[in-house]
Amino acid sequence: TTQRLEDRFGRVATDLRVSLTDRCNLRCSYCMPAEGLDWLPDESVLTEDEIVRLVRIGVEQLGIREVRFTGGEPLVRRGLVDIVRRTHELGVETSLTTNALGLARMADALAGAGLDRVNVSLDSIRRESFHEITRRDRLHDVLAGLRAAQAAGLGPVKVNAVLMRGVNDDQAPELLHWALDEGYELRFIEQMPLDAQHGWSREGMVTAEEILMALEAEFVLKPAEEPRGSAPAELFRVDGGPGTVGVIASVTRPFCGDCDRVRLTADGQIRNCLFAREESDLRGALRSGASDDDIAERWVVAMRGKRAGHGIDDPTFLQPDRPMSAIGG
Ligand code: GTP
Ligand code: 5AD
Ligand code: SF4
Repeated sequence: TTQRLEDRFGRVATDLRVSLTDRCNLRCSYCMPAEGLDWLPDESVLTEDEIVRLVRIGVEQLGIREVRFTGGEPLVRRGLVDIVRRTHELGVETSLTTNALGLARMADALAGAGLDRVNVSLDSIRRESFHEITRRDRLHDVLAGLRAAQAAGLGPVKVNAVLMRGVNDDQAPELLHWALDEGYELRFIEQMPLDAQHGWSREGMVTAEEILMALEAEFVLKPAEEPRGSAPAELFRVDGGPGTVGVIASVTRPFCGDCDRVRLTADGQIRNCLFAREESDLRGALRSGASDDDIAERWVVAMRGKRAGHGIDDPTFLQPDRPMSAIGG
């Protein structure tokens, strides 16, 4: 490493989240409309070689230690297994955040390519609720994907659930019973104002506190002893056993002060925060023949504009132009 990705507040980014595509094969209602979105044109999406080059610069010159692949849905990206293999060969930890559709077919190949872990998004284990939320009747495929990931050693598998008022907000205990039985680490995520439809409201958001109260009616939760570091999830040990449950309270208990993340979009823009209002164009630099050092320098500069926090509580808060599905969560 010759430089660090340090911002004005002393936070150092070591965790790179790479969005491989903005496309998805589900249509979660809190994320995108039924008809989908205007996808990025092919020519603006980074090629496999371009992605690997940027990741290599991040790892070799800028102190990146972990790479997480996201989407849209990363499993729909052609070349995923090769991208994972080439990233693994750089010597960093690799992980994937996925809806698990099609994972049953790909889990072994991904594990073979050196993928370390997967996190799976799943908001309900009831077929009708899953269908209502995602607008696709594919719960069965997701459950098969989860089992395949576990069997392939892509664990401990984490499951991310978003609760929506009046839709699945009564399902927290049932999700936890299921996750404990299956050996998945369940985390509940507070919904953030990142949906393409701009439909988020504070009242509609189910808070971490509400979720923990609902769980405590059926389970005994004790804050886990492990240090949290910069992890978004607060962990709780369940019923004194080995199982844990987490809450990611991005809105009501922000963890921005410990943020160690930086994001690369599928079209080659650096975002220094999920909620960044500006991006830095590395694709343009790449395609106009910039050297590795030039690109590294642009990336370092991009971090200087990172703001202290997401600012959701500020009266002047503005949702970023890019929706969650094109940032990668
Ligand atoms: P692990 O390292 O496996 O614990 O992953 P993770 O929880 O960081 O990643 P994952 O992709 O599973 O993200 C889960 C959820 O955490 C995302 O959907 C977001 O809602 C939230 N999240 C992830 N990164 C950030 C972040 O930088 N800021 C905020 N506010 N929320 C984040
Ligand atoms: N707020 C919080 N989490 C979200 N996700 C998608 N949209 C939102 C949002 N507005 C989650 C998905 C998935 C991860 C990639 O992001 O459920 O777990
Ligand atoms: Fe980091 Fe921005 Fe997420 Fe806060 S909202 S944790 S600063 S990426």
